[in-house]
Amino acid sequence: MPIKKKTIKSTKKSAAKKPATEKSTDASQNKPAVPKGSLKDVRLVRGMKDILPEDEKYWRHVFRTAEELMRESYFDRLETPVLEYTPIFTRAVGENTDIVEKEMFSFTDRGRDNVSLRPEGTAGVVRAYVEHGMINRPQPVKLWYFGPFFRYDRPQSGRQRQFYQFGSEVIGDGHPVIDAQLISLVGEFFKRLQIPVTIQVNSIGDKESRIAYGKALMDFLKPHKHKIDKEILERYKKTPLQLLDVKDDELQLLLDNAPQIVDYLTPEANQHFVKVLEHLDELDVSYQLNPKIVRGLDYYSHTTFEVMPEGGDKKLNALGGGGRYDKLVELFGGREETGACGFALGVERVIAQLKALDIRMPDRKPPEVFLAQLGDKARQKAIKVLHELRREGFRVAETFSKERLKSQMEIANRLHVTFTLIIGQKEMIDDTILIRDMENGIQEVVDSKKIVNELKKRIAENHGEK
Ligand code: HAM
Repeated sequence: MPIKKKTIKSTKKSAAKKPATEKSTDASQNKPAVPKGSLKDVRLVRGMKDILPEDEKYWRHVFRTAEELMRESYFDRLETPVLEYTPIFTRAVGENTDIVEKEMFSFTDRGRDNVSLRPEGTAGVVRAYVEHGMINRPQPVKLWYFGPFFRYDRPQSGRQRQFYQFGSEVIGDGHPVIDAQLISLVGEFFKRLQIPVTIQVNSIGDKESRIAYGKALMDFLKPHKHKIDKEILERYKKTPLQLLDVKDDELQLLLDNAPQIVDYLTPEANQHFVKVLEHLDELDVSYQLNPKIVRGLDYYSHTTFEVMPEGGDKKLNALGGGGRYDKLVELFGGREETGACGFALGVERVIAQLKALDIRMPDRKPPEVFLAQLGDKARQKAIKVLHELRREGFRVAETFSKERLKSQMEIANRLHVTFTLIIGQKEMIDDTILIRDMENGIQEVVDSKKIVNELKKRIAENHGEK
């Protein structure tokens, strides 16, 4: 068959038509992003990671465990885009947080809109809840997601600039049983993966509780001010609660003796927290109280929690976290006082833990049949047989690009197949297929039309033996 030649358009002309912003230059350095002839930039962006085929079994196992758990709990999957208008995050997560101040991948797009790669999932999900009028569905709306997130963190063990989260949000109900059920789901997820964890729980109460506690905390720190980094004090003077989350050993040592927020909760906030703990007991979830779990994002109120690894990779921080955020829907233009609660778990950290604990992944089943062929005609027939066998539900492997039988048999052996079907020139003439039992090496000629039944029979016999 004649092959049509592609017409290659002049690139000069199309380059001239590009809008000014579309130049293929790195604006900050005003030079081509990839210098001509240089391979310097043909590599991974710092902090990003490829997910290699050898790790696929971990990813599949974590995803399937998450999917199964959420489906059987009647949660629905919602995936939001990785790109959102920047104010979605600045408003929800908070201007004064590490994520917004230092870690967002933000840029102005070609239409001059300020957009950001999502650093977390809750803001996008709440945006979608409001934008799609999910308030009109039966409440609460129970959602889950599994996808990539982006933070300009300092890359190190357990910290990447693109990472995956498995998360969930339950929106439209403020009942404390929801908080407990979500914590219980998190516990169940780790139980199914056989990863031992401790779930640490706290309450940061409502706004009134936090104002009262912030004052108490500052009063406590006053006599120790000289021991605290001035920059830290200045930064958190308006949000003193966040001091509990600052990674500074000296400060944390000092805060070990600080008053605890649970003693400053308003009666309503205290009642909510007590109910959450009661429900956790009813659900048989083990947890630890940790008064320092305040979370580094502004939208939280009441319950906060974090999942800490027990054993395994010592360098890993929290495997996940979450909490209640009753004001966010309203902040995004939704109905006032729409209760909401959720969690997100770091998938790379979960996988690091599976590896560190040497937990065996379910293996992919080896193919039952390998299809080998000799010559062009036989390959054409083998392609048809392959489709037929797959339609019949057999697990079939092949390497049709290989010519020599020896190299094909090597691959069949490596894949630990049960039977190899060989179609050579003689088989083509006779309309037969040679079937080789890989365990004992016995070969038999079978009529092509009978191959499906013959394989079914032999595979059933094999199962019977086991
Ligand atoms: P977060 O604590 O910021 O919460 O993130 C959840 C988890 O994502 C962390 O515990 C960690 O396992 C993982 N993670 C965070 N940053 C990185 C990173 N740079 N590299 C690798 N893993 C990372 C949230 O994102 C909230 N949206 C959780 C939530 C949902 N709260 C309510 N609903």
